[in-house]
Amino acid sequence: MTTTATAPQLNPKAAEFLAKKVHKLLIGADWKDAASGKTFKTTNPATGEVLGVVAEGDKADVDAAVKAARAAYEGAWSKVSPSERGKLLNRLADLVEKNAEELAQLETLDNGKIIGEAMKGDLPLCADLLRYYAGWTTKISGETTPVSVPYYPGAKFLHYTVREPLGVVGAIIPWNFPLLMAVERLAPVLACGNALVLKPAEQTPLSALRLGELCLEAGIPAGVVNVVPGFGATAGAALAAHMDVDKISFTGSTDTGREVVKASAGNLKKVSLELGGKSPNIVFEDADLDAAARGMFMGIFYNQGQTCSAGSRVFVHESKFEAMVGALAERAKKIRQGPGLDPQSKMGPLVSEVQMNRVLGYVESGKKEGAKVLAGGERASGPLANGWFVQPTVFTEVKDSMRIAQEEIFGPVVAVMPFKDEAEVLARANGTPYGLVAGVWTKDIKKAFRMAQGLKAGVVWLNCYQFVDAAAPWGGTKQSGYGREKGPDAVHAYTQVKSVWVDLN
Ligand code: NAI
Ligand code: MG
Repeated sequence: MTTTATAPQLNPKAAEFLAKKVHKLLIGADWKDAASGKTFKTTNPATGEVLGVVAEGDKADVDAAVKAARAAYEGAWSKVSPSERGKLLNRLADLVEKNAEELAQLETLDNGKIIGEAMKGDLPLCADLLRYYAGWTTKISGETTPVSVPYYPGAKFLHYTVREPLGVVGAIIPWNFPLLMAVERLAPVLACGNALVLKPAEQTPLSALRLGELCLEAGIPAGVVNVVPGFGATAGAALAAHMDVDKISFTGSTDTGREVVKASAGNLKKVSLELGGKSPNIVFEDADLDAAARGMFMGIFYNQGQTCSAGSRVFVHESKFEAMVGALAERAKKIRQGPGLDPQSKMGPLVSEVQMNRVLGYVESGKKEGAKVLAGGERASGPLANGWFVQPTVFTEVKDSMRIAQEEIFGPVVAVMPFKDEAEVLARANGTPYGLVAGVWTKDIKKAFRMAQGLKAGVVWLNCYQFVDAAAPWGGTKQSGYGREKGPDAVHAYTQVKSVWVDLN
């Protein structure tokens, strides 16, 4: 079931994948229908057309997937050496690269993102994450520790630690970077020797299923990676509550994050949460203003603003405010919106009708609360009316207390506000329940580092914005969540320490 509008440009393998009548669940070695027999549809947000029919996993399928993961973890996977695990991850990286165009097209069709971002951003990052963690497999070591034991004079011990896998990890991921989020979990989870049950978002299940095929092709033993698409309230909730899952890694909304934490209480599984944000992007009067302008633009409009790290609150020093906000609005008005597969498009649709309406609701609330629309402010019309396109929108005359300045919008909508001095902007930047990322633009090195110290955020970008890397830890403070993905931190997040004592007396 391909979309007519984009079919001619499709990579033959993407077309072949999309032609499947039903996209089945990956459980162990098998591709299965849901136990209930139910299916759901995933759509192309650029056109509203059905893109594929997907088996709808729920509790029974999650149970089966966890069983398969447990069996693989205790069995075949436990016999694979660290170096072999590394080879498998490298082989998967090769396959991701070999199939990059197909994967990028599936991503664009299912999610809406423009093909250039998928090809140049998501796909290379996926391959890099796999290779980065492939390298880690042989370097996950413990320590030997000199212990004294003051209550046992003359004691002689050898003490050492080992980092062991957790067991079965459940990953519940969102729709904004479907493949990248899947790989960001899979790579460290497998590198550390765990087995994975992946629950992709119901809006964007396709690339994760294709990734499941590539895992088997790479030779990763059956059951190590299981992919169970389904809805949050059923499949997601079942995974979060499952008594035989050792950890949940969740990315999504703060409210759902709270549900995951509650559901984890049954077996006290470990949880890491990467949640929402309302991130400040702060431009001082002494900044390189051209660079800052690009950073403001990318910060909010990349991926249609559907990034947890969106720079959705831009603070510009009052002396440069009018010029900077005017330039941003002019640039926003010129963005060419269209289907992601069209190489001319510079911005795609939002992921779903629900998301579009949520974003438009925020735009209306901004207007009602008295903010001024400098660009956009409407659903896109004309030839784009069938898709879920929202015009890139720039608001000024925004008060810190307005909903558009406090709540995550998750769309191409930015609030631009002036400020007078450093202390004031720092307090305002920190003045939301979130604390994911922050950007600062200044040539004053002391001010830059003072801001980096003062900002309550898990990631701070100085004179840059929206940079991520396999090696750089990622995650938030406050209600943006806890735990870190990527970098060495993820190796810690997917292992636990065992402390071993040997009496040498
Ligand atoms: P969501 O947080 O409900 O969905 C994310 C994932 O959680 C999906 O796989 C979903 O199926 C699953 N899920 C939903 N309810 C669940 C439950 N009770 N137990 C276990 N898993 C569950 O996000 P949604 O509804 O798609 O988007 C709502 C808002 O969330 C967005 O407008 C945005 O503000 C935020 N969001 C933030 C993301 C981020 O990167 N931090 C990504 C996606 C959404
Ligand atoms: Mg879709």
